[in-house]
Amino acid sequence: MSESTRLRIAIQKSGRLSKESLKLLKSCGVKFNINEQRLIAHADNMPIDLLRVRDDDIPGLVMDGVVDLGIIGENVLEEEQIERQTLGTPAECIKLRELDFGACRLSLAVPNEFSYQDARSLEGLRIATSYPNILRRYMQSKGITYNDCMLKGSVEVAPRAGLADGICDLVSTGATLEANGLYETEVIYESMACIIQSTNTQPDDKQALINKILSRINAVVRAKE
Ligand code: PRP
Ligand code: ZN
Ligand code: MG
Repeated sequence: MSESTRLRIAIQKSGRLSKESLKLLKSCGVKFNINEQRLIAHADNMPIDLLRVRDDDIPGLVMDGVVDLGIIGENVLEEEQIERQTLGTPAECIKLRELDFGACRLSLAVPNEFSYQDARSLEGLRIATSYPNILRRYMQSKGITYNDCMLKGSVEVAPRAGLADGICDLVSTGATLEANGLYETEVIYESMACIIQSTNTQPDDKQALINKILSRINAVVRAKE
């Protein structure tokens, strides 16, 4: 496989960051048409290919140099970084800047009837999460032992389903917790969307395009402040 001469940017295919990611690139003057069936969208007016993938895959694609840029939540980036550091696989990327969307927090939450004092209330209990690494780091820093319940989705239903005593999941409006009879007890990580670049040395023209996109992003974000 030859290295692409076109700039590859990975964005979330469907989810919280998708619309804002596309909007940001459009406001930077990148013109493209999205075909829902296709993984790749070619920009019409610049040598840029958009890869529309699962958000969880984006940090790894950038760290492995498969794509040049990625727009991703800091939460997902942080989780992948700890995971790779643990495994000793490449975990480097350059965070170009934080963006002005995708605000959320990774929090501990328990059922409404759970009487919670502090994180030690979870000692020896089972916690469902899609973020086992950030959770482990937090609990280790508090010296609390707990059991994992790793779920890629539907984390919020785990306590009611009898799979776990509490959860560690993303909270944005809080509607999901409320709908599932849970309440937030501790924020363990606060996150925004960000744009990251692979540490690959880029050919001059590609790096110039990255710089152009980044300076346009800076202008777009500044204009909204
Ligand atoms: C998160 C989380 C909850 C929801 C919380 O999922 O897992 O389901 O958002 O948001 P709320 O507080 O506004 O109800 P998200 O879609 O961000 O994660 P994913 O796309 O990685 O599954
Ligand atoms: Zn190749
Ligand atoms: Mg996801």
